Amino acid sequence: MTAPRHFLDLDRFDPATLREMIESAKAMKRGEAPNGGSRPLAGKVLALIFEKPSTRTRVSFEVGVRQLGGEAVVLEPGGTQLGRGETVADTARVLSRYVDGVMIRTTKEEKLLELAEYASVPVINGLTDRTHPCQLMADVMTFEEHRGPIAGKTVVWCGDGNNMATTWLHAAARFDFELRLACPDALQPPAEVIDWARGEGATIVVTNDAEAAVTDADAVVTDTWVSMGDDVGDSERRYGLLRPYRVNEALIARARPEAVFMHCLPAHRGKEVTDEVMDGPRSVVWDEAENRLHAQKGILVWCMG
Ligand code: CP
Ligand code: NVA
Repeated sequence: MTAPRHFLDLDRFDPATLREMIESAKAMKRGEAPNGGSRPLAGKVLALIFEKPSTRTRVSFEVGVRQLGGEAVVLEPGGTQLGRGETVADTARVLSRYVDGVMIRTTKEEKLLELAEYASVPVINGLTDRTHPCQLMADVMTFEEHRGPIAGKTVVWCGDGNNMATTWLHAAARFDFELRLACPDALQPPAEVIDWARGEGATIVVTNDAEAAVTDADAVVTDTWVSMGDDVGDSERRYGLLRPYRVNEALIARARPEAVFMHCLPAHRGKEVTDEVMDGPRSVVWDEAENRLHAQKGILVWCMG
């Protein structure tokens, strides 16, 4: 039996395979049929497991699967035996007998990896505490729609060094752009991921100086200051550390005139980003949200088509 085509993290892929998925997503967005015809997932079912809330990931996967001719089954752990202690490995073995793929949004990366180890069908990472690769595929696609090839460009991550920041590090190595991380010392992405990206040849700048980082950038990206799972009662401390990294008009004015503003959403307006920037001419956040649908169709065709 051939190994299932999991989509776990960008660092596990070679650039050409990621590029293939993005180009297939762009073609489908243009209305072209993917390889395998217009309904490559006909007769197939994707299970969607959500241990954390979601709007975009849930709806874009459900709609994407349907547009590809397949169907989705949504599982909330509270309503399954997973929530009562059945192991992830046993759940993987059972689901593999019913469905053709599993997407999971989970509290712990270990659960994603356990699912992938024991499932005989493709497993897709729909966000963990550590990474969010489906979002990054949509982000690269969105940047390129507005600004052309991302290779050789400069992207600034401004704020919390969270799961999105870690995935931007993976992307910098795989898509060959400079990444500047403007984060407080206490909230930087894991040092081993920064070292990994540098070891892969990526240019990674780490600084506390948001203004210097944003100067002449091609994209400015941020995310919530309190991720799901980080809301453990120290939000005020985080806000205090992160306030200098808020993306406002004065900060983004330092970027190139044609620079874009990106945010995976949901945004906390007035915290990590001001209304002026969210709703301003540089913001591509709605295209970015839409592209979750197209990018994931590219991923689904690669994994399950
Ligand atoms: N960006 C993102 O993953 O959004 P949801 O949490 O709504 O899925
Ligand atoms: N960093 C955020 C992303 C939400 C899509 C979180 O994990 O909550």
